[in-house]
Amino acid sequence: MTVSPVEHLTYSTGPRGSRRLRRAAAGLLNHQFHSRSTITYDNVIVTPGCASAIDAIAFSICDEGEGILIPQPLYNGFNFDLLNRSNVQVVGVKYESVEGYTGINDLFQPEVNKAALKAALSRARQDGITIRALLVSNPHNPLGRCYPPETLKEFASFCGENDLHFISDEIYAFSVFSNPAIPAATSFTSVLSLDLDNLIDPTRMHVLYGASKDFCANGLRMGFVCSKNEGIMGSMSSIGIFSWSPHILQDAWAAMLEDQQWLDRFMTQKKALMLDRYQTITGFLSQHGIPYFDMNAGLFLWVDLRHLLVSKSSIRHSDYASLKTTSLGAHSNLELEQNIADICIKNGVMIAPGHVYKAEEYGWFRITFTVGQDALEEGLKRFLKSVEEMEEKWGVEKEVIAQ
Ligand SMILES: Cc1ncc(COP(=O)(O)O)c(C=O)c1O
Repeated sequence: MTVSPVEHLTYSTGPRGSRRLRRAAAGLLNHQFHSRSTITYDNVIVTPGCASAIDAIAFSICDEGEGILIPQPLYNGFNFDLLNRSNVQVVGVKYESVEGYTGINDLFQPEVNKAALKAALSRARQDGITIRALLVSNPHNPLGRCYPPETLKEFASFCGENDLHFISDEIYAFSVFSNPAIPAATSFTSVLSLDLDNLIDPTRMHVLYGASKDFCANGLRMGFVCSKNEGIMGSMSSIGIFSWSPHILQDAWAAMLEDQQWLDRFMTQKKALMLDRYQTITGFLSQHGIPYFDMNAGLFLWVDLRHLLVSKSSIRHSDYASLKTTSLGAHSNLELEQNIADICIKNGVMIAPGHVYKAEEYGWFRITFTVGQDALEEGLKRFLKSVEEMEEKWGVEKEVIAQ
């Protein structure tokens, strides 16, 4: 890349980002995210990573102590991104006690979400918390699935009715692949592509994106916010002067976004590798009788180790009721869950326990599988060693689990 003294060694076009990258980002949103209304570079502000985009939008729409609703389980980084600078609270949307909720698949259903959001908002109000927005990760982190259009519309409608902002974090938009195990899996729909005209004021909708996941480049520290709200754009650029990405780096990302052929080739190859690694991990888990929630988006699998938390005498699926975070044994289940993660660490592999994502049931773990084949195989070996160590320690018999 050639360094241009005027564009790269000066303040150039300032903290909102280079015109080139903002134009390229607008192009991405118009053509790849299929935005219904045209996005221009004025609607885009560049940030050093998506975490920074989350921080900037929270700082701009909330006062200290206010809250943002986020469906559970939720990406744990949202806690830091909302809290650390803006002192904004994550208010988790809970599903377990919602009518019609029977299991993880229902977390994507419009009606279940409608009821859960309503309950969460009224609980927050009772607790004296002012809610300013709903934030969703679509595709979902940690569950690895996409929200269907009807549910996204439900989110927009709920925000419109309750005077809330709707923030859609779409950082995994191009990390969605065809999984033969779930042929009917929902594909990715950006909220920008939906007709939400009568549901929400367009200036209350904001889309976040970043290079970290889809471009396998979390060191590039590049992200952006797309918003048609001029006040919020002004507010974000006023704090952008404290943390903006060098324009030479912005040019590097712009070059990738502008090159459609390269983009198609890269994403196709990446998705083939994702499927390959997905087959490695799921083949391995199935071979060892370990269940998981099938996914088609994101870089991780939601793995079910609930059997390690219940006693040998009560190992029947219905007995998993005791693993709810609201049940009596919650504290010891939390400890057991953490224990499992710690044993994995001791054996040289890191898996993330569900409680960091505010999962409503103990025993689930998020395992990242999009790594080199050798690293994945080695990691799975260490994981299995840990599971076997725990089964032995807690006396769980494999034959019983397999039933
Ligand atoms: C849903 C979601 N949003 C934002 C981020 C932060 O990404 P970045 O590395 O761009 O700050 C992550 C990272 O894991 C994520 O999963």
